[in-house]
Amino acid sequence: MARRVHMEPSRTLTEFRLLPGLTTRETSIEHVTLATPLVLRPEGGAIPLTTPVLAAAMQSVSGSRMGIELARLGGAAVIYCSQPIPDEAAMVAKIKAHKAGFVEPRAIGPNDLLRDVDALRRTAGYSTFPVVDSKGRLLGLITRRDYDARIHGDVPAKERMVPRAQLNVGVEITDLEAANGLLIEGHRSVLPIVDREDRLLSLVFRKDIEDHLDNPDQVVDEKKRLLAVAAINTHDYHERVAALVEAGVDVLVIDSSDGHTAFQHETLEWIRRRAPHLPVIGGNVITGEGFDYLVASGAGAVKVGMGGGSICITQEQKGTGRGLATAVMKVVEARDRHRAKTGIHVPVIADGGIVNSKDVVIALALGADAVMMGRFFARLEESPTETVRINDRVMKPYWGEGSARAREWSPARYRQAAFVEGVEGFVEYAGKLRDNLPLLVSKVKAALSSCGCRTIAELHANAELELVSALAIREGKVHDILQLGGEVDSLSSWSS
Ligand code: IMP
Repeated sequence: MARRVHMEPSRTLTEFRLLPGLTTRETSIEHVTLATPLVLRPEGGAIPLTTPVLAAAMQSVSGSRMGIELARLGGAAVIYCSQPIPDEAAMVAKIKAHKAGFVEPRAIGPNDLLRDVDALRRTAGYSTFPVVDSKGRLLGLITRRDYDARIHGDVPAKERMVPRAQLNVGVEITDLEAANGLLIEGHRSVLPIVDREDRLLSLVFRKDIEDHLDNPDQVVDEKKRLLAVAAINTHDYHERVAALVEAGVDVLVIDSSDGHTAFQHETLEWIRRRAPHLPVIGGNVITGEGFDYLVASGAGAVKVGMGGGSICITQEQKGTGRGLATAVMKVVEARDRHRAKTGIHVPVIADGGIVNSKDVVIALALGADAVMMGRFFARLEESPTETVRINDRVMKPYWGEGSARAREWSPARYRQAAFVEGVEGFVEYAGKLRDNLPLLVSKVKAALSSCGCRTIAELHANAELELVSALAIREGKVHDILQLGGEVDSLSSWSS
């Protein structure tokens, strides 16, 4: 006999509906925020997202393009680890190099010849260089417009630069809006930021600020660089973590279909010793015991779900898994017990089988702080795949990390598990992230508003959910009318 057999069936998100609460002016949509903690920092506090959405760590979902665009919209893409270490590190570096405001400048010396400055311009790919003395103090600024390399090749930079006295300079400014004010005031396109000793700290470009103001939700680090999140595995983390840290990664995610393992414990312990400030998300688990184990091992957030992914055949292959709603509820119970004991709220991320806005809402209402999706993002322009035409439909390929295709990058790694846990298929191309995510966000906000909640934390505290019958789900869809190109679905015939 098994140690325990749960006779209550496990539930999927689709089986629940939210009951509305009292909506007031204070909880109307424009007052709703979806800001959420992504992961706890080891030293305390949490790394926040403005949009509670992660793109899955998958080859067909999350490369640097998705990483940049999703961070600009307030979420994060988890760069996949099923690739060689230098390739993953390069993707992280690309996200961190994206200019989100304050740029760490490449400075030159006053006596550098303009011939060399011009060569630097060609290799660096940009043309504005601050000129500093040996102590790093700002002497001036030189741009492409200040010299002609054919005429001034032998001239030192100090003779053609715009000198310090003629520049608009910000002193220890860390706020982009303030920097923008100074730029506008001075009619400039670039603003050097210095410390109180006049040492150069950064440059702020007008065009980057405009870009930032267009993306008020973007998630950035303390240097205003976009947040970069990357996956690791429990095999090569000794080398992979170091390379990702070098590339500037902000958060690690241990990527595993079953995270309730001693290997995750060892990986977490190792990271705590070698990179003590780096936040790590552990998972996936589907039980309270799994949550407790990972948090005791040092995870700063826990990812939940097994067997529900759209490309997943884990349940069929191994018989392991749990409906995502039940998995989230069980883990959230453990999380809330942990919070009652310690006062610490460990973020929980629901993952696998989340198809649309209503699934996101139900997952959040059940206690998740954020959701991860694969299929949703694989359909978009920013996923790393090319579109294909199949029977006049524009599609993008989508494959599981446990599929034969994903494992091609390192056949030796997967010798042990000769069977696959995922499949390969296609999803309908859906255009740009920017045209899809805001719509999902507005539906989620509208749901919170209906429940009389302004924040996800209020939703956790106040949501009332109900299990619905199969017929009620049917009732919630279009029925008893003829839609062009469709068929009549009659509720009465279905029930009798
Ligand atoms: P989706 O959003 O339903 O497409 O599910 C995506 C999630 O499925 C990922 O975040 C992973 O947790 C999981 N997953 C990815 N690849 C595989 C696989 O090959 N087998 C099983 N689960 C997978």
